[in-house]
Amino acid sequence: MDDLYYSDYIELDKILNCQRPRSFDKMEDGNDEMLFIIIHQAYELWFKQILFELDLVRNIFIQERINENTPDMSNVVHKLKRIVKILELLNQQVSVLETMTALDFLEFRNYLLPASGFQSKQFRLIEAKLGLKMEERHKKEYYKSTRRGSLSENDMQEVTRVESESTLKQLIVKWLERMPFFEEQYWVEYKTADESNGNKFWTEYRRVYSAGLSAGEGGRLVEFDAVFFKDGRGDLSPKAMQAALFITLYRDLPIFQLPFELLNTLSEIDELLSNWRYRHFSMVRRMIGVRAGTGGTSGAGYLEGTLSQHYAFREITEVATFLIERSKLPSLPNVLKEKVSFNV
Ligand code: HEM
Repeated sequence: MDDLYYSDYIELDKILNCQRPRSFDKMEDGNDEMLFIIIHQAYELWFKQILFELDLVRNIFIQERINENTPDMSNVVHKLKRIVKILELLNQQVSVLETMTALDFLEFRNYLLPASGFQSKQFRLIEAKLGLKMEERHKKEYYKSTRRGSLSENDMQEVTRVESESTLKQLIVKWLERMPFFEEQYWVEYKTADESNGNKFWTEYRRVYSAGLSAGEGGRLVEFDAVFFKDGRGDLSPKAMQAALFITLYRDLPIFQLPFELLNTLSEIDELLSNWRYRHFSMVRRMIGVRAGTGGTSGAGYLEGTLSQHYAFREITEVATFLIERSKLPSLPNVLKEKVSFNV
């Protein structure tokens, strides 16, 4: 039997023979179109790996209950941190393409019309699996149509189908809502200054939070009440917001260490994607100024709009709005402390 050969194993011939710079047939001297194609291909390969990790994480979260005695939770955090590392790489990669100047790009730009990164199905799938919805996007009319320069019918259908599956965000919300620590049994012995109504912990926490607000921040308490007791925030119910805040506050307790890392990593993914959007937008301005994109959007103007709008985990990151200093954290009742420590 023949030994497996490196290039066969990774199908190198296929990869190295699928760059077809359209302008090379006509131009005598090479230009930067080869670089342009290879960079896009490298991005798409990494997008594929991100999608693979995301599916794995979603499959773990789709279970009715995540058993803390299995490696599930640490696997989830591990895979999400891998996505963070890939995104860091994808951010750095922009500077390789930026060695191409605007004039260099013009040498071949017309050859790729009306193709555009806007048609990257894998990029849309990443956004969709994380939890960004089509109707929440900046300039959603661009996505709804399958006009020239947009997603093809087939790709649009696939993105729409994936959007209807459970997104990572929805699964995280359900997981947060399942957190059991506000059940009455844990709080019986808990003493607060005001025992008048509702959960004792939240009554106490609200008091400390309110005392820490400066004179100009009066409206925050109204917001606090709405977020944690009435409407929730964005896609997170009050229960999910309470759990996210509680995990963030008591992250040093053994049972919350991984959940905290998980929430923190989701914010990091959002931040890195947003950094990429910014780097891509800046590069686009340098390459084409304010001309329309090959994909038919307004170009840099459109991309700038996506920067502030396309966050999947905005609510989780914004939990920071409602923190108090560590030294003022209410200490937890013993029965709960025992429950959340590994050594009892
Ligand atoms: C010379 C370099 C580049 C230029 C001038 C450029 C230009 C643009 C423009 C103008 C858009 C808006 C859609 C349109 O009307 O075409 C866009 C979208 C996009 N581009 Fe690029 N791009 C460049 C490189 C890249 C690279 C290397 C990637 C990597 C995959 C990429 C991925 C994307 C994605 C994913 C979108 C959609 C972004 C969104 O809708 O949020 N682009 N690009």
